[in-house]
Amino acid sequence: MTPNWNKTKLLGVMMTVNFLIYILVEVTRSYRQGGLYAGHPYMPSRHFWKKPKLSKAIWNRKQQHLDHIHNPLINSASSVRRFLPLPDLLRPSDRLKTTSCELDLNLSAQMDGYASLPDRFKDFLLHMQCRSYPLLIDAAGVCSDPPFLLLVVKTLAPHFDRRQAIRQSWGRAGILDGRRVAVVFLLGRTSARDHLPDVSDLLRHEARLHADLLQWDFRDAFFNLTLKEVLFLEWMGERCPLARYVFKGDDDVFVNTRSILRFLGRLSGDKARDLFVGDVISRAQPDRAVKSKYYVPESIFAGVYPPYAGGGGYLYSGDVALRLRNVSRRVLLYPIDDVYTGICLQKLGLVPEKHKGFRTFNIDEKFKEDACTYKSLMLVHPRGPREVMQIWSWINNPGLNCK
Ligand SMILES: *[C@@H]1O[C@H](CO)[C@@H](O)[C@H](O)[C@H]1NC(C)=O
Ligand SMILES: *[C@@H]1O[C@H](CO)[C@@H](O)[C@H](O)[C@H]1NC(C)=O
Ligand SMILES: *[C@@H]1O[C@H](CO)[C@@H](O)[C@H](O)[C@H]1NC(C)=O
Repeated sequence: MTPNWNKTKLLGVMMTVNFLIYILVEVTRSYRQGGLYAGHPYMPSRHFWKKPKLSKAIWNRKQQHLDHIHNPLINSASSVRRFLPLPDLLRPSDRLKTTSCELDLNLSAQMDGYASLPDRFKDFLLHMQCRSYPLLIDAAGVCSDPPFLLLVVKTLAPHFDRRQAIRQSWGRAGILDGRRVAVVFLLGRTSARDHLPDVSDLLRHEARLHADLLQWDFRDAFFNLTLKEVLFLEWMGERCPLARYVFKGDDDVFVNTRSILRFLGRLSGDKARDLFVGDVISRAQPDRAVKSKYYVPESIFAGVYPPYAGGGGYLYSGDVALRLRNVSRRVLLYPIDDVYTGICLQKLGLVPEKHKGFRTFNIDEKFKEDACTYKSLMLVHPRGPREVMQIWSWINNPGLNCK
């Protein structure tokens, strides 16, 4: 066979294929014009998406229900409504009352193994649908001049010395490097049930002295930190909506406020508006070690955590704070507060960014006494009040000479 013969054959095949495609297109066109589709958009008679599978884990299942209630399709066109499945997404006892503050008294009917859960989980689930608690102490004046940076510190009533160390170091309110900085401390109520002394008189005195305490009437327990988060976001939307940036962290961290201000000063545009940075943990699984502080049983949550920034301290824009406040109303409380914030960010389509200046897992022992190390970082956890004072004076020493 000659090469020429091959070429002719190829040409023949291509022409045949072209012809077949032409026929196919023509047939389709006439079919459409003629009958089936004429005049009306095609509407499938049955729903064509997968029917959502209900999770066995109680948090996931209740969140599915919330997502269903807030599904924009269901809420917009009534014509779409009839195509959506799931009127019986949940058993009646699983239904969520989204506005009330009632205790969820029927949990053993809603999930397996409720009776054998550790008490703190029973307690959490019982109160999961309640998120309105009265404000006992307000710091109404903190944002009368909107701050560039609002420092928000989670603390417990008896931690007077930690708060004082923060006020006298990285959390000093006023003007720093030309920027307005404000600070608020977030508190719940300590109770005799947790064998904590009653310091409410001292707290009231402290509030009069510094006007920087926010206290709500809920039990200050680890599993209520998410409550602290959502109540703070609501407060911020009311009282401090014009703060440009927010740092939120624990009372046992050292924060290099100056280096944070430098970092923020260099931001602009989308980067500034969508800012959320910290010590980000990705693809984490719920901790299933029963003895761990972060333990969450399979009967409560199933799945992987979205990326989230460790709760020791993270930084975000005021705009993100307001978006978080909005979306948090559609996200069920979760027992671990930083994971909760990660879930909210994911719903907003935002991904928290890892910044190596945030050291929530501490720094190498050999740099612990090195002033220059702290000068280049943004946050180190954990540090007590004495160390916080010490490190702040190191990095503010004009004689300090770092490369
Ligand atoms: C609790 O669940 C049981 C059984 O599902 C039901 O009969 C009862 O009405 C429920 N009670 C409440 C307060 O919802
Ligand atoms: C959260 O606070 C409420 C209100 O004080 C309390 O009843 C509940 O026990 C607390 N939850 C946990 C898990 O401690
Ligand atoms: C939050 O929700 C309110 C009311 O639904 C809306 O007007 C506002 O624009 C939202 N804020 C942000 C930052 O998305």
